[in-house]
Order: sequence, then structure tokens, then C-alpha cells
Amino acid sequence: MGKQKSIKAAVIGCGRIGAFTKRVAGEISPASEFPVNHCAAIRAAPGVELIAVCDLNLELAQKAGQSHKVKNIYTDFKKMIAEQSPDIITIATRTAERPDIIIYAANHGIKGMHIEKPLAINLADAKKAVRALQKNRVAISYGAVRRYSSVYQQTKKIIQSGRLGKLNRIIIEFGKSSLMWTHPHSVDLVNYFADNSEVAYAQSSFKFNKKDVNNKKIDLDPVLDFGLVKFKNGVSGLITDRDGRNTGLICERGEIWIMSDGRSLRLKDNNGKIRNIKIKKGLSGTITAISELRESLARKKPTSITAEEILKEQRILMALGYSGIYNSRKTALQDIDDNFTITGRTGNLYA
Ligand SMILES: NC(=O)c1ccc[n+]([C@@H]2O[C@H](COP(=O)([O-])OP(=O)(O)OC[C@H]3O[C@@H](n4cnc5c(N)ncnc54)[C@H](O)[C@@H]3O)[C@@H](O)[C@H]2O)c1
Repeated sequence: MGKQKSIKAAVIGCGRIGAFTKRVAGEISPASEFPVNHCAAIRAAPGVELIAVCDLNLELAQKAGQSHKVKNIYTDFKKMIAEQSPDIITIATRTAERPDIIIYAANHGIKGMHIEKPLAINLADAKKAVRALQKNRVAISYGAVRRYSSVYQQTKKIIQSGRLGKLNRIIIEFGKSSLMWTHPHSVDLVNYFADNSEVAYAQSSFKFNKKDVNNKKIDLDPVLDFGLVKFKNGVSGLITDRDGRNTGLICERGEIWIMSDGRSLRLKDNNGKIRNIKIKKGLSGTITAISELRESLARKKPTSITAEEILKEQRILMALGYSGIYNSRKTALQDIDDNFTITGRTGNLYA
């Protein structure tokens, strides 16, 4: 981009993903997927300046400020917005409080938001947040950041080229993981590769104590045995409990596997012959997500995900949860009541 003024960014929630997640020894995901924490990704994004950070916990906000060389430290995000007038914010609080922050910020002049996943704990909150985003024409990017990462985008281009024929199945291998914490990533990948096409139904299975669930609320973060997202065009998105952080795209005339979150990319033809595809280098998904906000603000370039699509992914999450408490019943997205809530609780921690 030409020389132009940087846009101003502020981070709300300076916990791990807001300010501190770093690549650790033994990490599956490749180095190219880092930085993932919001402060570091903002600082690495061209044309974006980190001007302020906020956390309810002052010490944490100060620590984030020190680590990321920011002087404007806040414990009240409303005060931060009023005093700093950032162009964009990123929201890295836990899920339950996210919609209220989105609504306030959208109604107080914030023009772009990077929103952590999942959007909300029920559809009522999710819809209110989406309405505020749409009404105020806020540009958004989403914390399910694999869709922004170059290896996933490269894979989608191969599928779209049609050389492997029609896509039939999307297989996600993100281990024995929980619905609201990890599977927003799985659901996003499934929906991304299925081209956001219409969902017929969702199904899942998980173990639970009867005391924690009823038809209004799942008071836990279900650890899935499996999840299925069935699209009306016949494509299946299968969320397995297999380890490896692999994503498989099974087509008529072959398969592509994104192995270990993008350490390698494998093409398998129908005769079982496997070859590696060279991975295109790119910035981390989080940097690209934030760069989309800059491009939207600076050049009115549309972002790659809409609020409507994030709401649809929230519906899929809710339907997966609902199915699991009713013997893996096939659950259409419109069957979920707006107030049906999945708290995402594990012990006394919330997703
Ligand atoms: N995209 C990813 O790969 C990824 C990875 C980890 C976590 N997450 C998501 O990010 C969210 C946060 O996860 P975490 O592990 O960083 O949690 P965390 O508990 O470490 O951090 C959340 C922080 O938000 C702060 N906070 C809460 N309400 C606030 C408010 N009103 N104003 C300012 N600060 C507020 C808390 O004090 C806390 O420090 C979760 O919902 C999780 O699902 C996403």
C-alpha cells in the first residue's frame, strides 16, 4: 500500500490470546501461524498502530502495555474508547461478555473489530451483536483465524480449481476437544471449505451429567466424540476426535490433507499415490485478519467474513450442542431457540 496514515488499534482483554500467547516448544502449529496474540499481531500488521490496551485486571493490562510498548493502559473499555478514539478494537475477553462490548463499541464510533471466537453463548446475544455491527457498518474479522492463513487459502483455491472434482467431505482432526473452546475453529473450517452453503442439519455426540443439561441450557463445554455438519448440497463436514490438527478435503478424484495445521500439504490421488505440495508463504492468520480491517477502513475493501456468516457459525455450534443432549438427533439450524445457552463451562472456567 502507498504511504498513508496508520489506523489506530486498541485491545480489550489482555489475557492469553489478547496479549501473551506465544509459540511453545512442542507446538504442533507451524511458526508461520504466529503471532496469534492480538497485541503482537497488531504490531506486526503493516499500517496498524497499537495505541491502547484494556483489561479489568490492571496488573495484566500494565504487563501487556510493558510487553507491547503501549503507554495508554485502561481497566474500563468505555473510557478507553472515549479518550483514545481507536479506529479498530480487538476483543479477547471470554465469550459471555463479548456481545455487550461489541454492541457498545459499534454504537460508539468503532469502525472495525477483530472478534474472538465464539461470538456468544446463545443466539439472542449473538443476534443483538450482529444487528449492532450491521447497523453501524462495522468491518469485522473473526478469531477463527485459519481461514485467513495462507496454507488454508491455498488449499481452498485448489478445491475451487475443480481439478479434483467435486468436494464431498471435509474431515477435521482437532483431537478430543470442546465445542465452545476448540470447535469454533472446526465449524469455521467446515463452513469455509463448504463455501458457506446452506446447512441441512447438525449432529453430535458427547458425554454429560444429566444435572448439567436441559432443553434451555448446557452448563458445560461439551467434549465431542464427533460432530457432523450436513450441507444441503450433499457436502459433509465431519468433526472427529482424532489428534493431529489435520484437515482433510475429500473430493471425487482425490484428497488434500493440511497436515499439522499447515506444516505440510499432501495430495493423494485416487490410486493412493501421495505427493507433497509446496506451501505458499504468508503472514499469520491473525495478522491477515487485522490487515483486512485496515484495508476495509482505508480502501473500503470488503472483509472476507460477514457478521451474518459468523451468526450462522454460531447457529451450527448451538445445533451441535443441542443434538448431543438428544441422542445425536438431526438438528436443523432454525430449530434452536434464541435463548438456548451453552455456557462453555469447564470446572469453574468459561470458554
Ligand atoms: N483464536 C484462538 O486461537 C483462541 C485461542 C485462545 C483463546 N481464544 C478465545 O479467546 C477468549 C479469551 O481466551 P483467553 O485464554 O485469552 O482468556 P483469559 O482469561 O486469559 O483472558 C481474558 C481477559 O479478558 C479480561 N476481561 C474480561 N472482561 C473484560 C472487560 N469487560 N474489559 C476488559 N477486559 C476484560 C479478563 O480480565 C481476562 O484477563 C476465549 O473466549 C477463547 O475462546 C481464542
